[in-house]
Amino acid sequence: MTTVGKNVPHDSAVGYVTGESLYVDDVPFAKNELIVDFFWSTVAHGRIRALDTTAACNIPGVVGLYTYHDLAHNLFGPIIKDEILLAEDIVTFIGQPIVVIAAENREAIRLAKKAIKIDIERLEPVFTIDDAKRKKQFIGPTRRIARGDWNAAFASAEHILEGTWINGGQDHFYLESQAAIAYPGEFDQLSVLSSTQNPSEVQEVIAHVLGLPINKVVVTTKRMGGAFGGKECQATHPAAMAALVAHKTRRPARIAYSKDDDMCVTGGRHPFQNDFKVAFTSDGLITALKVDLYSDGGAYADLSPAVMGRAMTHVDNAYYIQNVEIIGTTCRTNFPPNTAFRGFGGPQGVATIENIMEEIAIYLKRDPLEIRKKNCYGVDDRNITPYNQVVRNNLLPRLFAEIADRADYQRRRKEVADFNASSNTHLRGIACTAVKFGISFNTKFLNQANALVNIYLDGSVQVSTGATEMGQGVNTKIRQLVADEFGIALDHVILMPTSTEKNNNTSATAASSGTDLNGSAAVDACRKIKVRLAEVDRGRNLPWRELIKAAYHDRVSLGDKGFYSTQGIDWDVDKGCGTPFLYFTQGCAISEVEIDRFTGMMKILRSDLLMDIGKSINPGIDRGQMTGAFVQGVGWLTTEEKRWTPDGDVLTHSPTTYKIPNIQDLPEIFNVDTIDNDGNTVNIRSSKAVGEPPLLLGISVFMAIKNALSFVSNGAIPKINAPATGEEILMRLTEHRRKPVLA
Ligand code: MTE
Ligand code: HPA
Ligand code: MOS
Repeated sequence: MTTVGKNVPHDSAVGYVTGESLYVDDVPFAKNELIVDFFWSTVAHGRIRALDTTAACNIPGVVGLYTYHDLAHNLFGPIIKDEILLAEDIVTFIGQPIVVIAAENREAIRLAKKAIKIDIERLEPVFTIDDAKRKKQFIGPTRRIARGDWNAAFASAEHILEGTWINGGQDHFYLESQAAIAYPGEFDQLSVLSSTQNPSEVQEVIAHVLGLPINKVVVTTKRMGGAFGGKECQATHPAAMAALVAHKTRRPARIAYSKDDDMCVTGGRHPFQNDFKVAFTSDGLITALKVDLYSDGGAYADLSPAVMGRAMTHVDNAYYIQNVEIIGTTCRTNFPPNTAFRGFGGPQGVATIENIMEEIAIYLKRDPLEIRKKNCYGVDDRNITPYNQVVRNNLLPRLFAEIADRADYQRRRKEVADFNASSNTHLRGIACTAVKFGISFNTKFLNQANALVNIYLDGSVQVSTGATEMGQGVNTKIRQLVADEFGIALDHVILMPTSTEKNNNTSATAASSGTDLNGSAAVDACRKIKVRLAEVDRGRNLPWRELIKAAYHDRVSLGDKGFYSTQGIDWDVDKGCGTPFLYFTQGCAISEVEIDRFTGMMKILRSDLLMDIGKSINPGIDRGQMTGAFVQGVGWLTTEEKRWTPDGDVLTHSPTTYKIPNIQDLPEIFNVDTIDNDGNTVNIRSSKAVGEPPLLLGISVFMAIKNALSFVSNGAIPKINAPATGEEILMRLTEHRRKPVLA
């Protein structure tokens, strides 16, 4: 009776569709409950000269207005403590909370927001990476990863290309906006429901800002309606505001951002601006690479240094580069702090080298896939990353070969060329890109988890771990692992809400490692119990229920806590050296696009995805992750463009102006598959993490667009930045049209 490896339905599948699944704001209002919202800065950078809340205070229904004066501590931050919950004298982004408002109803909140009088002196804002560079406005130190003698390699290079590749940010666009409810308990205790990937961090920050010991705060997360990294750190702010109100008023307090507000005040994926210089032979072998990454961190550090770290360790991607220098600098700007977003800097690093691969191929007039294969990491040699980690169990050469075959690459590449030669109205392009995504948090101490397993007298089992369910299916996978470990049917096991009361000091469910870490901890707990059950059984092979009854009557403990910490990883951030990842999840994709030459409109004709995700715990869920992540990656690189007014006010704060992919934007032919991998043994049940890596395969669509443009660029390398919206594509087409045609 095994369930691992089977297509067990997502444990919320029915509930999501029927509406039975509860989200924070579905919880019925408690007696006396208050609504919480906040008054925020409408100036991107300024000094508060005067703030007057008296008129707002007098509005009927308004119960309290709170500023930073009401907090025990205002300063916090997950890596660098540079962030304040409520603005003091200086505001640093539009959307920054200044006053927390508690009221009996939404109308009172609306009126209170209008009645707050504020006078802000405008200071000069910084809105671009270039501006931040000029002003030397950075977050944390510049980091470096280097190997070999790149200067010598550049000096003796056959060919050199240089450029800058710019990519925009992305809104998480989770369907459930940030939300929390705080319930006051006795003696300053607080119980908080939060839509967060990171209950322990929410707990810790609430305790900190209110000046309470951590044990007085319990944070519970049942599920999120999507998170995608956006609730790894930024669920903390609303929860802390609700907690502040509950703490001050002794009444339950609820906050739930509207979609528009959420899109205005929270940060998203980091825009990057990446300078590169690459040396290569006439055969297309890269001999040296220098990449200077700059990200827009927004106003506070948040997770930006770690995001930059992941970007830097992903610039190599699938390719072995002998002589290489990678530099990473995070810029401080006057936007909401940018934060974790599926891929966590990996996509920005990987897209940079994939863009370089296309450029080398166009320059040498060669097949880009041939260039990629030539530079690909080896299986037994040429398999050490620039940061000195050995790439073990490397399936990239096999993935490149198999995807080309399955997608009929050579024939279609020729067909694309033929099509472009004959069509006056449309342009096609095709590209193959790869992903090699490092699995583990790139902050070593985060790679730990604990789990609680309780068995009840009828043999039914409750499992609680630090993992939070955001739709990715972690609960279902852990349920399968536990059922298998005990050798019992799946319906004996359920996953309980994540709560800091049961699982202490947990890491965010992030870095795609939710199942790796928490599943392993759950299995550890099961094994401890199994040892005791075996003693009870004494070889009798009792049926499960009878065994549990016997154990109970023998006074044997039927619950335990498990723990797991990833072994064999280490990372020296100052030296840019070590083995930060337990293993790599790998994949390849081939995408073909068609562009309307008159409008720039792009559609994806076909995408083929092929991944190594080890032995899947749940192939159906993993397939969902692969398709969803790919489409999210395509959105980042094609349609999801963020725009601001010259004053830094976001214009794209709702689906009317911000375009995420919809069902019509899917590839017309969409093949999603995995390969068998018997050689991966380092992770639980030989599985590999899948949550983020396939997002990076969306890069194949962007490179297919670049490939299409190369047919009309008269031999020049077409430059295109991300997102490649229809508008951007049309402008690039027009640019080339203006140039004189070469003979
Ligand atoms: N899938 C769904 N449906 N919703 C989400 O919010 N987040 C992604 C990914 N898949 C997300 C998702 C991100 S950013 C990560 S890090 C992983 O899920 C986290 O969960 P895991 O570690 O259990 O894979
Ligand atoms: N991914 C997500 N969150 C993180 C990471 C990571 O690699 N490192 C630190 N926080
Ligand atoms: Mo995912 S960006 O690690 O939450």
